[in-house]
Amino acid sequence: MAPSGPNYYEYGWTQDNRWLEKQEAATKRSKRVVIGVLLALLALIGIAVGVGVGISQSHKSSSSSLDAIPSDPSKFDKDPDLFRSFYGLAYTPEGSQLPDCGANLSDVIKDIQLMSQLTTRIRLYGADCNQTSLVMDAIQQTKVNMTVYIGNYPVSTDNNTAYLRQRDEIDIAIKAFGVNNIGGVTVGNEFMLNYMTAQGTSDPNSAIANQGAQLLIADIDDTRSNLTSLDLPKELSVGTSDAGSYFNNEVMEKIDYMMCNVHAWFADQTIEQAAGWVSNFFQTVNVAEAANTTRKPQPLIAETGWPTGSANASLGFNGAANATEDNLQIFLNTFVCAANANGTGYFFFEYFDEPWKTAAFGGVEGYWGLFYSNRTLKNIKIPTCVLD
Ligand SMILES: *[C@@H]1O[C@H](CO)[C@@H](O)[C@H](O)[C@H]1NC(C)=O
Ligand SMILES: *[C@@H]1O[C@H](CO)[C@@H](O)[C@H](O)[C@H]1NC(C)=O
Ligand SMILES: *[C@@H]1O[C@H](CO)[C@@H](O)[C@H](O)[C@H]1NC(C)=O
Ligand SMILES: *[C@@H]1O[C@H](CO)[C@@H](O)[C@H](O)[C@H]1NC(C)=O
Ligand SMILES: *[C@@H]1O[C@H](CO)[C@@H](O)[C@H](O)[C@H]1NC(C)=O
Ligand SMILES: *[C@@H]1O[C@H](CO)[C@@H](O)[C@H](O)[C@H]1NC(C)=O
Ligand SMILES: *[C@@H]1O[C@H](CO)[C@@H](O)[C@H](O)[C@H]1NC(C)=O
Ligand SMILES: *[C@@H]1O[C@H](CO)[C@@H](O)[C@H](O)[C@H]1NC(C)=O
Ligand SMILES: *[C@@H]1O[C@H](CO)[C@@H](O)[C@H](O)[C@H]1NC(C)=O
Ligand SMILES: *[C@@H]1O[C@H](CO)[C@@H](O)[C@H](O)[C@H]1NC(C)=O
Repeated sequence: MAPSGPNYYEYGWTQDNRWLEKQEAATKRSKRVVIGVLLALLALIGIAVGVGVGISQSHKSSSSSLDAIPSDPSKFDKDPDLFRSFYGLAYTPEGSQLPDCGANLSDVIKDIQLMSQLTTRIRLYGADCNQTSLVMDAIQQTKVNMTVYIGNYPVSTDNNTAYLRQRDEIDIAIKAFGVNNIGGVTVGNEFMLNYMTAQGTSDPNSAIANQGAQLLIADIDDTRSNLTSLDLPKELSVGTSDAGSYFNNEVMEKIDYMMCNVHAWFADQTIEQAAGWVSNFFQTVNVAEAANTTRKPQPLIAETGWPTGSANASLGFNGAANATEDNLQIFLNTFVCAANANGTGYFFFEYFDEPWKTAAFGGVEGYWGLFYSNRTLKNIKIPTCVLD
């Protein structure tokens, strides 16, 4: 199906953007620019929000997505093949994209039950379709140890309509479910990437980029002011998430944490080099630039992972990178436990495959899950370096 619906455009995804970025990559103006463009593509990937569907344990019936809310969501079977070895996971509930909202509590409960066997942290991208409340309700009903970084996904070209709409959703969620399960409020997903791509600049500290930064900063400041006025029992961190090459110095001075998309796939890395490349990029670019600020936001990897398939065979490899389950396994084996040992905070991208991304973007976009879209684990073994 052709990309459609306001959010598709609102969220800055256009085929033109993708084409432009690839062209820019081809010009290889400089190594830094190329890396920036690659990260931009990564960012594109990141835009796709994780779809959350009813989790079905491996032997359960495939009609589980139609199940009603369980009478006691805190009682559920544990899958012996799952280990809580991930610092965090990237998640977007299924049906949380306007205009086709459909996210529901029974699906989100199943997702939280499953993800709680892999991690104690998840991140959301936006707040549309009641997803913030659903996730917090599901965490509380399942009684699992889960911290959620909630998100507000503003758009630079809509007179702030999307931001304000999601601000109201977040307000409702906090009033209903409190802040105990919230790790932070992420204002912006690839905001600078999208703004800069539209403006044709790849330097996040250029004069043009600084203009985009002011739009994002206004939303960050507004979120802080709204949170303050709620007089919450604990102060919530406020951060932003963007492609790793798109952090602006003025934005970094306004945030408590910076979530950075760092994808070896888009940097044309071989699978053997992938984990080291991610670590090296994150340390030399994001950790270094955070340390160079006065505010010193906490650097986190917002997304890293490896795709296992492609809607379009010619896009199933990217230079030396190849989208296969064997390669996802290698990336899991080489990245997860090493990153844990290094104390790197990361949100693995992602919980499950998202068919709407395939429909909207083609290529590998819909194939980054640890699970297929039906919640069956891919043919992979989860690393066993369990965290707290
Ligand atoms: C929840 O949404 C899923 C699609 O995401 C759908 O298959 C399921 O029937 C819905 N469940 C309920 C109880 O509405
Ligand atoms: C919950 O997980 C956090 C890490 O996200 C850990 O620090 C904490 O000890 C865990 N709490 C319990 C009760 O297990
Ligand atoms: C949003 O989800 C919460 C949590 O499950 C629920 O209580 C509330 O009724 C939902 N709101 C809407 C408008 O569906
Ligand atoms: C932009 O939004 C503001 C309110 O937030 C409104 O006053 C103004 O009319 C809007 N501008 C346009 C062009 O829609
Ligand atoms: C946020 O704060 C503004 C005033 O700065 C207020 O008008 C608005 O109602 C608040 N919204 C929420 C959701 O708290
Ligand atoms: C460090 O920060 C200053 C002030 O924002 C900036 O001018 C400089 O380019 C930064 N240096 C690096 C290596 O990021
Ligand atoms: C796959 O992508 C390539 C490169 O963008 C394009 O030339 C080709 O037409 C696409 N094929 C299909 C079936 O979409
Ligand atoms: C990618 O892997 C598949 C499956 O192993 C293989 O058939 C294909 O030739 C590989 N493609 C590239 C470009 O290496
Ligand atoms: C962990 O740290 C080592 C030593 O600095 C580095 O070589 C390696 O790439 C890092 N791995 C990850 C996944 O962070
Ligand atoms: C889930 O999807 C995968 C991939 O399409 C498929 O191989 C598997 O049979 C499906 N599992 C169930 C229980 O439907």
